[in-house]
Amino acid sequence: MKHSTQTRTATHWQRFSVPYEFPVVFTEGVFDPDNPALREAFSRLEPAKRHRAVFFVDDGLQAGGAPLIEAIQAYAARHADALELACPPVALPGGEKIKTDLHFVESIQQKLFDLHLDRHSYVVAVGGGAVLDAVGLVAATTHRGVRHIRVPTTVLAQNDSGVGVKNGVNLLGVKNFVGTFAPPFAVLNDHDFIDSLPDRDKVAGMAEAVKVALIRDAEFFGWLERHMDDLATFGRAAMQHMIRRCAELHMRQIGQGGDPFETGSARPLDYGHWSAHKLESLTRHHVRHGEAVAIGMALDARYSVLAGLLPAGEELRICALLEYLGFDLWHPALERTGTSGEWSILEGLRDFQEHLGGELTITLLGGIGVGVEVHEIDHARMRQAMAWLKARAGG
Ligand SMILES: NC(=O)c1ccc[n+]([C@@H]2O[C@H](COP(=O)([O-])OP(=O)(O)OC[C@H]3O[C@@H](n4cnc5c(N)ncnc54)[C@H](O)[C@@H]3O)[C@@H](O)[C@H]2O)c1
Ligand SMILES: [Zn+2]
Repeated sequence: MKHSTQTRTATHWQRFSVPYEFPVVFTEGVFDPDNPALREAFSRLEPAKRHRAVFFVDDGLQAGGAPLIEAIQAYAARHADALELACPPVALPGGEKIKTDLHFVESIQQKLFDLHLDRHSYVVAVGGGAVLDAVGLVAATTHRGVRHIRVPTTVLAQNDSGVGVKNGVNLLGVKNFVGTFAPPFAVLNDHDFIDSLPDRDKVAGMAEAVKVALIRDAEFFGWLERHMDDLATFGRAAMQHMIRRCAELHMRQIGQGGDPFETGSARPLDYGHWSAHKLESLTRHHVRHGEAVAIGMALDARYSVLAGLLPAGEELRICALLEYLGFDLWHPALERTGTSGEWSILEGLRDFQEHLGGELTITLLGGIGVGVEVHEIDHARMRQAMAWLKARAGG
């Protein structure tokens, strides 16, 4: 007897949505026992409970001389009714190293296993974007998700990565090849950490502020221009405002942009990033993320002009701001060629598309504060933009 497709197949649609919310707190002295912000973050769902936690700390912070591990222990001792350290805070190597060797991910997993951490326990990461990305990946995947609190300690981590919903590590030479979308339980941005940050990292983190201003907020770009003296000398008030406004703009895009987990083909916040990711890999991460993004933004600004999208002259304004803030807008690795004889940097376009899936989508500029998406990049025009950048740098 023949069955019709209708009788053999039944489709039941499962549909639900999960609301996400987490606090992003701006504070100072987060581990000062008199500061309640951390305790409140732990206790926000179960105020009467004592919470188990393990803290992972970027070793770059220890090198800065801050007795951070002792401070965390003192904080936990004062708030012992709310917080129990499952073990003394654990130092982890800071910087890209932790993301490029899976051994570190495994060692963090081992620690959580040994400590019998459950899903209502907390994994706290204190550090730069790299440590947050690696610890965040472990927190998101252990028991399918342990509560994760981030304490970002670099400009970039405070104004961009730390307030976002992604984590990940590098594998097979591909940046963030392994990772998840996993909103944290809470984020605590403490400006005091910025004081010990090397100047190079202070500058690098400002690239993301210029980026988000360029694609979303002309007024903020004007503010950055007006305060470039203060920013170039790392004035505290200017740095605080820059970080906070940048974080807000990132949060708004994630919360209200309609695609927080980037299921589409676009990464609207990734202006200047297709070449930046490639440049980071080509230089084996000797060029910092923010440094590469600054070059990527200058390149795509010039390309935007050549493509008739951005009024001529605006790219000069963008380059002038970036240079004033302390960025170099050229790197010799941009001219490196692969086996085909083509510039390796242009492979970044393919990598970018592969990471996202779907059609190529690159954000360019239609004006200061106006990001526009295009689906094709003319390689000859991009080479022209590259030549322009090199000539400007006196190369
Ligand atoms: N998940 C995301 O959405 C996202 C977004 C953007 C970037 N990222 C990632 O973030 C990483 C870069 O992060 P980053 O720019 O914060 O740098 P980083 O984490 O690589 O840290 C840079 C250096 O600063 C040290 N350090 C950190 N805080 C310090 C402090 N307060 N004082 C002194 N030294 C300190 C670290 O030990 C390291 O040596 C990259 O891997 C990038 O891919 C992730
Ligand atoms: Zn970035």
